[in-house]
Amino acid sequence: MSIVGVIGAGQMGAGIAQVAAQAGYQVLLADVGLERAEAGKAGIAKALDRLVTKEKIAAADRDAAIARIETVGHTSGMAEAEIVIEAATEREDIKRAIFEQVGRVLGDDAVLASNTSSIPITRLAQASPDPARFVGVHFFNPVPVMGLIEVIRGLATSDATVARIEAFATALGKQVVHANDAPGFIVNRVLMPMLNEACFALGEGVATIRDIDLACQLGLNHPMGPLTLADFIGLDTCLQITRVLFEGTGDPKFRPAPILVKYVEAGWYGRKTGRGFYDYSGETPEPTR
Ligand code: CAA
Repeated sequence: MSIVGVIGAGQMGAGIAQVAAQAGYQVLLADVGLERAEAGKAGIAKALDRLVTKEKIAAADRDAAIARIETVGHTSGMAEAEIVIEAATEREDIKRAIFEQVGRVLGDDAVLASNTSSIPITRLAQASPDPARFVGVHFFNPVPVMGLIEVIRGLATSDATVARIEAFATALGKQVVHANDAPGFIVNRVLMPMLNEACFALGEGVATIRDIDLACQLGLNHPMGPLTLADFIGLDTCLQITRVLFEGTGDPKFRPAPILVKYVEAGWYGRKTGRGFYDYSGETPEPTR
């Protein structure tokens, strides 16, 4: 049975661990300490419980998936893994430190992949033991629901590495698209300007939060309006990716909307902090403007 290592047991890492375990992989789930890895596993157990309650999976399948996930307190536990996916905080220094650590134990044939949403793969590969075996594998939130994985090859990524990560992504039941190592890859290159433009529209008084979101939901048939989606992703993350697009291309069309910058400066990051464009303290989210 193939072993997959997942580093980072937050929302994305836990989602990746869940779908990998459900697809039959043995999963080693790591975070900065065993406690955080175990909290991630507990969240996965809850998510699988909900699927059992909704009769989407059998209780036996839930139990088998949970049994396939082993929490580890340190990346040294990753020596057995054939694929290691880093899904840690979107900070280059943190990711580089992880690659250096895991690089010390990574198997000679193992693939190291990053779930980064915006940091260049070619640059990150420099902190890995073998850039030919380093690749971008970008999942979408919520991982168990979203059917896409972007595979991003760095300059040195080998064809064999791309083929192995593609086979893994397909085994998870996801569709694969290939992107070159350009700022924002495909999805964020297209999505972030839309979310940023919704912020400009709000800041310029074109419409209220409710009306901007409702317009896009009903007028474009999007599952969520852009401001709801920005809150869902995290305004800090949206700003960080928008800055990568702006700085990476040098094109002023990607400049961040002032209201997005202000909200991030205020610590209003969206759902995760309880306030963004919406206030999440009550039963249902309420627009703040
Ligand atoms: N985990 C697992 N399943 C979830 C879930 C989660 N966090 N959230 C919702 N679901 C499931 C629900 O259980 C439900 O399943 P069933 O239909 O089988 O019962 C289904 O998704 C629909 O959920 P809801 O009825 O509760 O609500 P919804 O219809 O509004 O869907 C949503 C919720 C799937 C999140 C939907 O609103 C949506 O697709 N939104 C857009 C999400 C999106 O664009 N994600 C990409 C963000 S960009 C990114 O991730 C990359 C990046 O780099 C920033």
